[in-house]
Amino acid sequence: MVVIFNFGGQYAHLIARRVRELGIRSELISPHEKIANIKKLKPQAVIFSGSPYSCYDKNAPKANPEIYKLNIPILGICYGHQLMAFQLGGQVLSKRNKQFGKEMLKIKKSKIFEGLKPYQNVWFSHGDQVNKVPEGFKIIAASKNAQVAAMEDPARNFYGIQFHAEVAHTPKGMKIIENFLYKIARCRVDWNLGKVTKIILEKLKEEITDNKVIMAISGGVDSLVAGALLKKAIGKNLYLISIDTGFLRLNEVEEIKNIVSASKLGNLKIINARKSFLDLLKNVTNPEEKRQKIAKHYFSIFEDEAKKIGNLKYLAQGTIYPDRVESASTSKHADKIKSHHNVTLPRGLKLKIIEPLADFYKDEVRKVGIKLGIKKIFLNRHPFPGPGLAIRILGEVTPDRLAILKEADNIFINELKNARIYNKVGQALAALLPVKSVGVMGDARTYSYIIALRSVDTSDFMTADWSKIPQQILERISTRIVNEVRGVNRVVYDITQKPPATIEYE
Ligand code: XMP
Repeated sequence: MVVIFNFGGQYAHLIARRVRELGIRSELISPHEKIANIKKLKPQAVIFSGSPYSCYDKNAPKANPEIYKLNIPILGICYGHQLMAFQLGGQVLSKRNKQFGKEMLKIKKSKIFEGLKPYQNVWFSHGDQVNKVPEGFKIIAASKNAQVAAMEDPARNFYGIQFHAEVAHTPKGMKIIENFLYKIARCRVDWNLGKVTKIILEKLKEEITDNKVIMAISGGVDSLVAGALLKKAIGKNLYLISIDTGFLRLNEVEEIKNIVSASKLGNLKIINARKSFLDLLKNVTNPEEKRQKIAKHYFSIFEDEAKKIGNLKYLAQGTIYPDRVESASTSKHADKIKSHHNVTLPRGLKLKIIEPLADFYKDEVRKVGIKLGIKKIFLNRHPFPGPGLAIRILGEVTPDRLAILKEADNIFINELKNARIYNKVGQALAALLPVKSVGVMGDARTYSYIIALRSVDTSDFMTADWSKIPQQILERISTRIVNEVRGVNRVVYDITQKPPATIEYE
């Protein structure tokens, strides 16, 4: 396996996924992890990720210098490359201006570049750069703006690259990572989803035996696949609960029933709690207050239901690898933006937690789902947040605003599906802006709400770009919404990236 030091760079997860794509297990770890724990993982290689820091910053995350003494090959990428140079006695130049974009790289002969032509297009995104390599190292690549674009110490198997080999903008990047893993670190290929799934099933059976497991199901991909795995492992002892908060999409409750039955999960109980959720949000306008109230109420209902089943021992959750890594805060330097309600556990329940998907990335979850026979259309559904439409109605949630948003959202999503765009974008949603604007319909003045449409392209939901949906399709959607949804006379399309805007509105 390969250990990746997560110094907080935006591509840390991407590096971990690339390693897995090459058939090798990868784990992201905090740079503060104890060396003894790292040794226990028996890594064949270590990769240092990028970081928003400069290695001279006071709070810059560092690697424990012991890591250089373990006789394990190390690849430093961007900040990781600079840090390695810095910690081993080289010199790093602090630069104010960030260099960003594609550049031509001239490479020298090195194991890490085997099979590559002398000139390569690569992607840079950095401020600082290595100025002088440490003893034992030599320069193996340079570009116009980076003299030490790559360095190596083949005796110790230490390599550093200033550019990002893991992104698609570096066309031969995968070959470079592959050379490092296969040729330098001599990793063996053994991360195979079929094999891993089998092991997980065995473990679930072994641990749960004939005890009862409860799980909330939302119609989303993660809970569905986790449910399917559990169903296969423990059969009728899996109890599925779905709480209808009233903030679900139009006809979503029917859809959940349909998904659960088509995927043969059985044992589903749907709890109608619409009224209590609406009452709860009366006069609540603050987004965090909304989120916290919804989460608390949700879990108290869940707890009551669990008590009704009785004799429960386990609570299963659809947590996936990025959720686990983020909540273990390997990236400590992140600010709290929103409280996601699925990572909060019901406190009153004394149940053991089971997370069958905790080792998988989203694309892996989908592949496991296919192996388990779940239909592709269910696996390609966009994510939907726990608090649902309540965080897409800005300000107070009222029954009429909810009804308006459900209709508008339904038109938007259906039109994206009809135009075969739905599967090409990462997530699409409609939000209701609680301001009214003037319009004209027939010959009459209208004074109604604004609907904002948002669709983003993203691979990890941490950063996102707005989708370039063809204008005629946007026009069709807008026309349908203003004509068909009473209470809306204006539709706008959100063209903000994340960051600075988040994907959801609250
Ligand atoms: P933001 O708005 O933070 O959203 O850019 C990133 C992704 O997370 C989803 N999201 C949630 N998912 N519970 C969830 O299960 C939540 O409370 C929650 N809030 C946001 C959001 O839809 C997007 O995919």
